[in-house]
Amino acid sequence: MSAGTAIPVRVTKIDNVANDIKRFRLERLDGIPLPTFSAGAHVIVSMRDDGVLRRNPYSLMSSPHQTAAYEISVLRVVDSRGGSTFMHDRLREGDELVISHPVNLFAADQRGRKHILFAGGIGITPFLAMMAQFDRDNVAFELHYGMRSREHGAYWKDLIDRYGGHRIKVYFNSEDQLIPAASIMGHQPLGTHAYVCGPERMMDFVLTTAREAGWPKENIHSERFLAAMSGKPFDVELVRSGIMVHVGDHQSILDAVEAAGIDAPYLCRGGACGQCETLVVGCNGGALSHHDVYLSAAEKASGQKVMICVSRFEGAKLSLDL
Ligand SMILES: Cc1cc2nc3c(=O)[nH]c(=O)nc-3n(C[C@H](O)[C@H](O)[C@H](O)COP(=O)(O)OP(=O)(O)OC[C@H]3O[C@@H](n4cnc5c(N)ncnc54)[C@H](O)[C@@H]3O)c2cc1C
Ligand code: FES
Repeated sequence: MSAGTAIPVRVTKIDNVANDIKRFRLERLDGIPLPTFSAGAHVIVSMRDDGVLRRNPYSLMSSPHQTAAYEISVLRVVDSRGGSTFMHDRLREGDELVISHPVNLFAADQRGRKHILFAGGIGITPFLAMMAQFDRDNVAFELHYGMRSREHGAYWKDLIDRYGGHRIKVYFNSEDQLIPAASIMGHQPLGTHAYVCGPERMMDFVLTTAREAGWPKENIHSERFLAAMSGKPFDVELVRSGIMVHVGDHQSILDAVEAAGIDAPYLCRGGACGQCETLVVGCNGGALSHHDVYLSAAEKASGQKVMICVSRFEGAKLSLDL
């Protein structure tokens, strides 16, 4: 199944919250409360853009205890395939959208005695909901938030006002400030959990630091805002459906399959949940180009499976068990 039943919503407010970041408030068309969710969850937003259906995951940043509306924040991405540009340039207050039910692949571990959150840029969004939950439940937390500059960073002033400078630490690249991950990781009480979300290099740095500091892997949690890569077009034979689909240079295999009217399962569309795992029937001399963080290195090397939301194929024709 895909990410749950579709929920029609209206965009009731759009705010510019920082350079290239907008916040969107979404309310149900029928006025009843939205489903409850746990902090760290995302929804898939479906956008109709001049006849093209775009579907992107966005983390819910609003408090899990307020279900009259959801809030998401979207960064305008350079080299966008279209989704973030649509949200920034085309969407207006009063417009309708369709969202999925919330799915959580980045939940806080309830056993944690303390939680350290490492955010980079737009990676702050899942932590906004998490901090609201920790604060309400009186759970110890600390946020280390790196941004390009004071103007590019969203919400940092509000967070310091709300939770205090002792819990919210901010770092600006433009002022040569880096998150001192090694010293933070080196001085935490037993039972602390760490969470990281942000640009790839920052995430790899924090995750490597945690491993080197001897943190158990079950105490380290991460979410990558992965997206499908662009690349050369190719054809895919859907063996069970008996049809051929063409995957364009800016499309994912999943996008192309859906455009052909085939319902394929997904939950994250970001290579993390495993829901879109598909068996490969044949590569016909070409090679898979895996971009997910779900399959192991051995599974990727075997060439027997592919995550069709983010991975591509280099060759003329890929055959899939779909
Ligand atoms: C679970 C999950 C939660 C997410 N939550 C958020 C969120 O709260 N807010 C948000 O703005 N985005 C979030 N994203 C990313 C979002 O879904 C889109 O990928 C992003 O908006 C770009 O979409 P696009 O259609 O404009 O371009 P895409 O074609 O999807 O991306 C274009 C190119 O930019 C790269 N890219 C994608 N996202 C970023 C980024 N954030 N920074 C730098 N490069 C990027 C891609 O790798 C690709 O090469 C989330 C992704 C996942 C998987
Ligand atoms: S939909 Fe989650 S890995 Fe593809």
